[in-house]
Amino acid sequence: MSINQDYWNKRRVLITGHEGFLGAWLTKVLVGCGSEVVGLDKVIDRENTVLHEVSGKFEGIEGNIADFNLVKKIMDDFKPQTILHIAAEAIVGVANKNPIATFESNIQGTWNILEAARDNKELEGIVAASSDKAYGSHENLPYTEDIALHGDHPYDVSKSCSDLLCRSYFLTFKVPVCVTRCGNIYGPGDHNFSRLIPDAVCCALKEEQFIIRSDGEFTRDYIYVEDVVNAYLTLAEKMKVLKLEGEAFNFSNDRPLSVLDVFKRISSNVNKKNVEPRILNEAQFEIKHQYLSSQKAKDILSWESQFSIDEGLKDTISWYATNVLDVKEASSNR
Ligand SMILES: NC(=O)c1ccc[n+]([C@@H]2O[C@H](COP(=O)([O-])OP(=O)(O)OC[C@H]3O[C@@H](n4cnc5c(N)ncnc54)[C@H](O)[C@@H]3O)[C@@H](O)[C@H]2O)c1
Repeated sequence: MSINQDYWNKRRVLITGHEGFLGAWLTKVLVGCGSEVVGLDKVIDRENTVLHEVSGKFEGIEGNIADFNLVKKIMDDFKPQTILHIAAEAIVGVANKNPIATFESNIQGTWNILEAARDNKELEGIVAASSDKAYGSHENLPYTEDIALHGDHPYDVSKSCSDLLCRSYFLTFKVPVCVTRCGNIYGPGDHNFSRLIPDAVCCALKEEQFIIRSDGEFTRDYIYVEDVVNAYLTLAEKMKVLKLEGEAFNFSNDRPLSVLDVFKRISSNVNKKNVEPRILNEAQFEIKHQYLSSQKAKDILSWESQFSIDEGLKDTISWYATNVLDVKEASSNR
């Protein structure tokens, strides 16, 4: 990973959602670069995350980003120079069950960060997590950053809204913020077993049948978490010098795969008995083909995905093979 250590060393960085899959990776890498990290998450001190490698070397605050007074207090006390705003209800199925809580975390939480950041004179940049889902459904593929944002269902709408809030706070108040739009991120440390790769890897390791809710032909991007960490840090580092505030960037490896393709690659990388998947063909509210162009990130940021799907899967499978039982137990306690 090519990270500019000098830029990050001793930098004050606030990471929301630092205990989640991506937030934990960002925290681990930034602590390793010498950054002074404060994290804010509604659940802290989780078992078996990649954060344990840096425990005691950052401050983790337990609290809700929907609580403006808390967010403002952290902003005023810590005065972050960089904010990585990652916290969100990130699971589509949970968002469909709990839309209000999802809107509070994802939309209100984002406006709280942006509003509190308005008075922070030391702030150089915010990178906020949007998603490919913010685009909703479009005929023209791959998606580029200039197409309209029109999510249809709770998670997608929460991401369309939070993405637009970032743009609005830059255009109206000059809050220096960029958004990232990624497809499916995968890698070691993801405790969200409703996601395809953690679920499929665990089934393959345990020689259990993998259930595919769709017809198996839905296509998506799958991007390795270290590529995403590199994307966030590259964008945070370059946004001021390249005057990118207010911009959105897609990050993808430009190689979309179907669910069945992913399943086959996992099976071929796991040294276990091959169990055929069960295809239910009952995916509700889901977009059939969705994938991103990362040309803008390549042209402007000189960012490019470094991990092939097979390289990423090898590391991922090895992490679940070592941690899978503990991880499943830990996730069932959430
Ligand atoms: N993982 C992916 O495939 C993917 C793809 C595109 C975008 N994203 C976005 O990237 C971000 C990180 O995703 P992830 O995979 O790490 O998800 P995650 O669920 O592992 O992590 C999200 C973290 O946010 C915290 N959180 C949620 N609501 C909160 C609240 N109200 N207050 C404080 N903390 C709260 C959770 O406790 C969790 O630790 C999210 O914004 C997600 O929408 C993820």
